[in-house]
Amino acid sequence: MAAAAAAAIKFLNLATLIFSVLLLTSASDTLNSGGNITDGETLVSAGGLFTLGFFSPSPAGVPTKRYLGIWFTASAPPEAVCWVANREAPLNSTSGVLVMDSARSLLLLDGSGQTAWSSSKTNTTAPATVAQLLESGNLVVLRDKTSGGGGSVLWQSFDHPSNTLIAGMRFGRNPRTGEERSLTSWRAPDDPAPGDCRVALDTRGLPHAVGWRGGAKLYSSGPWNGRWFSGFPEMASYPGIYSIEVAVRPDEVAFVFTALAGAPFARLLLTDEGAIQQQTWRGPAGRGWNIWDASPRDVCDAYGKCGAFGLCDAVTASTLFCGCVHGFSPASPSEWSMRETSGGCRRDVPLDCGKTNGTPTTTDGFRVVRGVKLPDTDNATVDMTATLEQCRARCLANCSCVAYAAADIRVGGDGSGCVMWVGDIVDVRYVDKGQDLYVRLAKSELNDEKRRAAAKLIVIPVTVSLLALTAVLGMYLVWRCRLRGRASSLMFLQGQRPSNHAQTKAMLGFLSKTSELGDDDLDLPLVCFGDIVSATNNFSEENMLGQGGFGKVYKGVLDDREVAIKRLGQGSGQGAEEFRNEVLLIAKLQHRNLVRLLGCCIHGDEKLLICCKQKGP
Ligand SMILES: *[C@@H]1O[C@H](CO)[C@@H](O)[C@H](O)[C@H]1NC(C)=O
Ligand SMILES: *[C@@H]1O[C@H](CO)[C@@H](O)[C@H](O)[C@H]1NC(C)=O
Ligand SMILES: *[C@@H]1O[C@H](CO)[C@@H](O)[C@H](O)[C@H]1NC(C)=O
Ligand SMILES: *[C@@H]1O[C@H](CO)[C@@H](O)[C@H](O)[C@H]1NC(C)=O
Ligand SMILES: *[C@@H]1O[C@H](CO)[C@@H](O)[C@H](O)[C@H]1NC(C)=O
Repeated sequence: MAAAAAAAIKFLNLATLIFSVLLLTSASDTLNSGGNITDGETLVSAGGLFTLGFFSPSPAGVPTKRYLGIWFTASAPPEAVCWVANREAPLNSTSGVLVMDSARSLLLLDGSGQTAWSSSKTNTTAPATVAQLLESGNLVVLRDKTSGGGGSVLWQSFDHPSNTLIAGMRFGRNPRTGEERSLTSWRAPDDPAPGDCRVALDTRGLPHAVGWRGGAKLYSSGPWNGRWFSGFPEMASYPGIYSIEVAVRPDEVAFVFTALAGAPFARLLLTDEGAIQQQTWRGPAGRGWNIWDASPRDVCDAYGKCGAFGLCDAVTASTLFCGCVHGFSPASPSEWSMRETSGGCRRDVPLDCGKTNGTPTTTDGFRVVRGVKLPDTDNATVDMTATLEQCRARCLANCSCVAYAAADIRVGGDGSGCVMWVGDIVDVRYVDKGQDLYVRLAKSELNDEKRRAAAKLIVIPVTVSLLALTAVLGMYLVWRCRLRGRASSLMFLQGQRPSNHAQTKAMLGFLSKTSELGDDDLDLPLVCFGDIVSATNNFSEENMLGQGGFGKVYKGVLDDREVAIKRLGQGSGQGAEEFRNEVLLIAKLQHRNLVRLLGCCIHGDEKLLICCKQKGP
């Protein structure tokens, strides 16, 4: 009886599904002048890739706020929403209606006929208009072809991005008018209202994308070098997915990516936390999104992490990631030792540059810093026509020029074009496929034999005191682990875990200001090593689930709960930084319900992750 009922329900569900699919496929992509769509109705692009309609971002049951949006049809709102019309004015019922009104603009009316949103007023004396959802995901208001309007675009949603960039959208600004196409985050995953975070293309110097939270820069992509953004070479290396370009014209500087034929659907999403994620749709079988890359990736992506003339290196956890460009030393060594590195570095030997009878004379020279993300170009001067040799001569002749580099690497070799920096250089880091930066130094700093000898004298005492410090820190961590191990057991039992939201938030904060493991910021329980040893029967063969290049995975029982424990290979060379990245990555994956991270443990060389054991062997 029950089985029959269940079968009937299944059949009904299937029928509804088929019915709605039929409805969808028969939906039109065009709204004619005077026409409207009500809540429940949709526009579907010609090939079916995108849908325009009403949606609620909050889970069923919560009092509904209704939004008009465009989403990627294969997925579902709110996850797949690319654009939202009435972000600032949600409707409070399902009686909203989108009207292509006779005054030639799209109007979103609420139940009482009030306008919640409208596309910009178009010329009312223009011929009749239609709205059409294109297969690119762009909603356009066009002059009706049939009435002699020629089909020209009067308004388009691509000009008003929300938090998502899809292929073909132009992200940038018009230097003449200041008009900007930037991304603004949602306030929360279930709230499309404009949040605090923004990503925009800065066109000062060379084009560079900057992530903001309020008035503070979170991260910068680094200057565009003709092929990629200096700090994000990997963006240009997704063959078969999309190609990227930055168009530079007097009336437009814009970043745009183009989907390649047969590639999975890709998007750039600005999360409510301010991170940019590059995602691709897994396809009908996998469902869900693959996160290819995210920015910020590590501590060094935090804007200006090491201050003026600082140089960030993501793999040198031991020196707290920050160093100075050759010829510079920390401006305040005591602050640096307290991990406050944003004060930057100071020149060791003053430059020798002046004027005699109007002609500059100098004994300075340049030293190349290889493999870096070029500094912020906000105050830099760019000349695309100069050669690198001319660039050097110009920089040398100008006493306020402190560094130069090639502006365009497309020609190969040393590149072409010229960027010159005055004042300070900030936001420099080592990066894969990094560029050459030429830094101006006093003559005595160019020949560094003497310096090396001097450095050796300092290195030994510094190393000894660092070792002592590490030992003390290690003891402190073990002690704290003991204390917190108990507390975390309780958290396990009561399931009191920090929400993903809070955790991700903590992550970003912690990327920007901390650099040591075991910080409270990543509010994860630290688990006592002793507890793990007994849970896994001293890492016995029987408890081993698998092994990979990264280490071994064991099953175990911790506080009556089956867990998987990942023991990172001691010989894997994985440092604190990689371990942290892994913790961050898993904390992110957690959002996708793939694996739940319950805690972590650091014990001497041992680094362990404790996760929920997944179903199966
Ligand atoms: C929407 O269109 C229907 C006819 O298709 C019409 O009866 C209704 O009044 C329209 N609603 C609005 C708000 O224009
Ligand atoms: C919905 O909004 C309208 C005005 O936009 C307002 O008059 C009405 O009271 C609201 N209803 C609820 C239930 O909040
Ligand atoms: C509106 O369009 C008409 C005809 O296309 C044109 O002559 C007129 O200048 C336009 N007005 C404005 C304000 O753009
Ligand atoms: C550019 O110059 C302004 C004014 O001197 C300064 O406030 C700002 O920090 C500089 N920006 C960079 C990236 O150096
Ligand atoms: C030096 O360079 C700066 C920035 O490029 C520029 O503003 C200044 O006029 C130059 N000075 C001379 C003497 O060329």
